[in-house]
Amino acid sequence: MCGIVGAVSAKDSTPFLLKGLATLEYRGYDSAGLALLTSDGVSGLQRARSKGRVAELATLVKQQTFSGNIGIAHTRWATHGVPAERNAHPHISGKLALVHNGIIENYESLREQLQGLGYVFTSDTDTETIVHLIQACFKGLIGEPAENLFSAVQCAVVHLKGAFALAVISEEEPDCLVVAREGSPLMLGVAEDGYYAASDASALLSVTKRMMYLENGDVARLSRDAVLVVDGIGQMVERAIVTSSLNANAVELGDYSHYMQKEIFEQPQALSNTLEMISGAGQLQPGIFGAEAAEIFQQVDSVLILACGTSSYAGMTAKYWIEQVAGIPCNVEIASEYRYRQSVPNPDQLVVVISQSGETADTLAALHHAKVQGHNCTLAICNVPESAIMRETALRFITRAGPEIGVASTKAFTTQLSALFLLTLLLAKVKQRLSAEDEKVYLDELRHLPIAVDKVLALEPSIEKWAQHFSNKQHALFLGRGRHYPIALEGALKLKEITYIHAEAYPAGELKHGPLALVDSEMPVVVVAPNDEMLEKLKANMQEVSARGGQLYVFADGGSAMKPTEGVNVQLMPEHYGLLSPVLHVVALQLLSYHVALVKGTDVDKPRNLAKSVTVE
Ligand code: F6R
Repeated sequence: MCGIVGAVSAKDSTPFLLKGLATLEYRGYDSAGLALLTSDGVSGLQRARSKGRVAELATLVKQQTFSGNIGIAHTRWATHGVPAERNAHPHISGKLALVHNGIIENYESLREQLQGLGYVFTSDTDTETIVHLIQACFKGLIGEPAENLFSAVQCAVVHLKGAFALAVISEEEPDCLVVAREGSPLMLGVAEDGYYAASDASALLSVTKRMMYLENGDVARLSRDAVLVVDGIGQMVERAIVTSSLNANAVELGDYSHYMQKEIFEQPQALSNTLEMISGAGQLQPGIFGAEAAEIFQQVDSVLILACGTSSYAGMTAKYWIEQVAGIPCNVEIASEYRYRQSVPNPDQLVVVISQSGETADTLAALHHAKVQGHNCTLAICNVPESAIMRETALRFITRAGPEIGVASTKAFTTQLSALFLLTLLLAKVKQRLSAEDEKVYLDELRHLPIAVDKVLALEPSIEKWAQHFSNKQHALFLGRGRHYPIALEGALKLKEITYIHAEAYPAGELKHGPLALVDSEMPVVVVAPNDEMLEKLKANMQEVSARGGQLYVFADGGSAMKPTEGVNVQLMPEHYGLLSPVLHVVALQLLSYHVALVKGTDVDKPRNLAKSVTVE
């Protein structure tokens, strides 16, 4: 989704801005742009925009020999208005230039008001409204005339409804950059040679690890050697400087061809890191979820999981674990639905929000909604320690997958599953449903998980052979039962995201209630078929497919007694893994999708129309 970088530096900011944009490319975008000013004010506002890749923008900037100490830059993911140069940011009003992430919900009425004041719009964006609005505040056409850019921005943000992070510069004040945030992430970088801003910490790592996270409502003025922050009620505030734990190397591709490939293969390490706290533990302590965890787990009588996309499938898998092992009810809701639904709140329910990024707008809004409804027992499972979600719950657990750059989530998902299994065990323990013996067995299984995943990764060459069979297909079905149904859903999501093959997942028992009508010899049907309590039922469902000529691609394991036959392809998983088998099976499905995408030649890391962090509704 859109990305922002900005700088006020003693040196030329152009290289930082372009590098920052390149770092943000993974979030998904369709156009890019930047604007620069020199601090002597001589060269005036310089702007370059291009529809397409950051590399094209960099060529443009080079051709036009742009430079400047002060600058703002942006990658745009189209919401209002098609991807086109005229809609790319920065947008200009007189001597102001502005970049923006988020969505302004009242932009139509503002646009009308501003047109009435004589402003001419050149784009279809909601963003252009903001830059004219700041100009109007500056001139006193709305409110009292502002003394400077900083107060004009403070005046303007009051009129905005929706979510935004914005950065603005003015030719008339070539010594500063003004930023503001409400709902969308924005952080400042504190470096020797100046102050920087970005919507994602990874974009700041090339200049500093010292970061200042702005709160909702903050407006800040950055100059070469100072930063001034005021909060939503206009009071001067100090925001703490923290040293980011992100490692610049962690976001490099290294020897891999794609981030998705790198991240699939990083899973054993990501799981070891996430489970480090249990490496030598004889038993589990609730404290791994936060200081108040023991008390809260004792109090809760059920669980409500809120998440989107892949993270919601992690939640759906956990529902099977929590109900079976901990014996308490667990519901999973898509965050974008829950936030608008009239539900029946239960203050003794543990609300768990799961998010890789910790910035997903719908998940954050669902959490806010739950809190307003009186839910105080809240837990975040998230991969980004400094994210918004992590600051808003009573309990938290950081999955230590490391930065996930590929748009399609892989290592975040498996580490979420490991965290949710820990949660299951702790709830079971607190509810006295877990014997010391079982606790030890499960802990051993968790500790062995990275090795088990490693063995699945070794199957890559034989999974790769299946990829050819999918590459010319228009559709695919994925089947699973029980705790492997969410894995079928996740497998189908991976395939559709990165190969654009239409894929649907069903609990296999549902086949004959409709989807069986789709099955013919052209339909590949992927089945997640470990040797568990549902296997015999699943085999009967597979017969239904075979009888209609469907081509089966079955991920089974040793005890499944399944052999390849005409129309039935079987991939045996290295070991059967009981309750944790979803973690192994999903890795095999990730590899399948990855290789189908390679055969099809699609953009694996940046699939069309998708963004990494979905910070707008
Ligand atoms: C799919 C994928 C998305 C995300 C979803 C939620 O591969 O990555 O479905 O899972 O957008 O994102 P987070 O987990 O950051 O809240």
